[in-house]
Amino acid sequence: GLGRLADIKDIIGSICQVLGRSGDLAGKHIVVTAGGTQEPIDPVRYLSNRSSGKMGYALAEAARDRGAKVTLVTAPTSLPEPVGVDVIQVGTAQEMRQAVENVTLRSDALIMAAAVADYRPLKAAKDKIKKGKTGLTLELECTPDILGTVKGNFIKVGFAAESSNLVENAREKLKQKGLALIVANDITAGDSGFGTDTNRVTIIDREGKIESLPLMSKRKVADRLLDKVVGLSEETIVYCSLREEPRIGFSKGQEPLFSKRKGTLILETAIGNITVSYNPKYDEFGPRGVSKWLKWLKKNHPELKAGDKVRLQ
Ligand code: CTP
Repeated sequence: GLGRLADIKDIIGSICQVLGRSGDLAGKHIVVTAGGTQEPIDPVRYLSNRSSGKMGYALAEAARDRGAKVTLVTAPTSLPEPVGVDVIQVGTAQEMRQAVENVTLRSDALIMAAAVADYRPLKAAKDKIKKGKTGLTLELECTPDILGTVKGNFIKVGFAAESSNLVENAREKLKQKGLALIVANDITAGDSGFGTDTNRVTIIDREGKIESLPLMSKRKVADRLLDKVVGLSEETIVYCSLREEPRIGFSKGQEPLFSKRKGTLILETAIGNITVSYNPKYDEFGPRGVSKWLKWLKKNHPELKAGDKVRLQ
């Protein structure tokens, strides 16, 4: 009621959020998923897994504390909802997919820490299934692969829960699902993976770089992963200057950027935003490609003057 002190953890959460406002994720919208989805068998039973949601919740809080607007799409867990985070509660893989598709429309990154059930009963029984004398066979069908099918121009990060061939399997998932990063988790270790407060992970990027982190709290893992996400989002911004002879200044070296991403690009220019589509197949992000663009811009938008800045994002 009026005058009652808020819960200490809510106060701490709010303070962390305020202190993080100018953090390195300020202005970014990060979507995190967490928990194990529940696929109904009948009104009282469901298929699920041992995910506690701790890794996803730690990520949501860490991103909040670095200034991001965070949306947490969570399957049922026993964890309290983090303060200062938009929380969307879902049950099934299908509901999670719907929520993820809606909230990623204008997001900068999607981090899928949820353990999505791979199978669901073909048909959930309307009434409680009664105990019979013989066994029961359930027919299962595949759930949608959320991470592998969600579309949009944001950084995609996945988790790979593996019990063998950790790096190999994780690499394959990174490739198959078109991810920027994958966090490989050995779920056979007692001190990491499902249910624990600590985790020992290996982070792999799409260039094939592997970083094996020692055992640490899930919150620390979250921050190490977000360091990489910040690095990636810096890389995806290129500043160009329109000169007489188009020349390009990349924010990070002279390497081609966005090399594997395809879609729509917004050029923030002195005359407003210009939307163009691009195809990485044609090396449009290499120095030559960008140079070609600048020529195109000058030809098609004579109102742009030499020296105007163009920001590709
Ligand atoms: N994932 C997803 N949708 C699914 C299954 C998984 O979005 N239906 C996501 C997970 O959230 C995780 C990544 O994909 O970020 C890898 O999940 P994992 O369970 O390790 O791999 P699967 O693709 O399910 O493959 P497998 O179970 O055969 O190892």
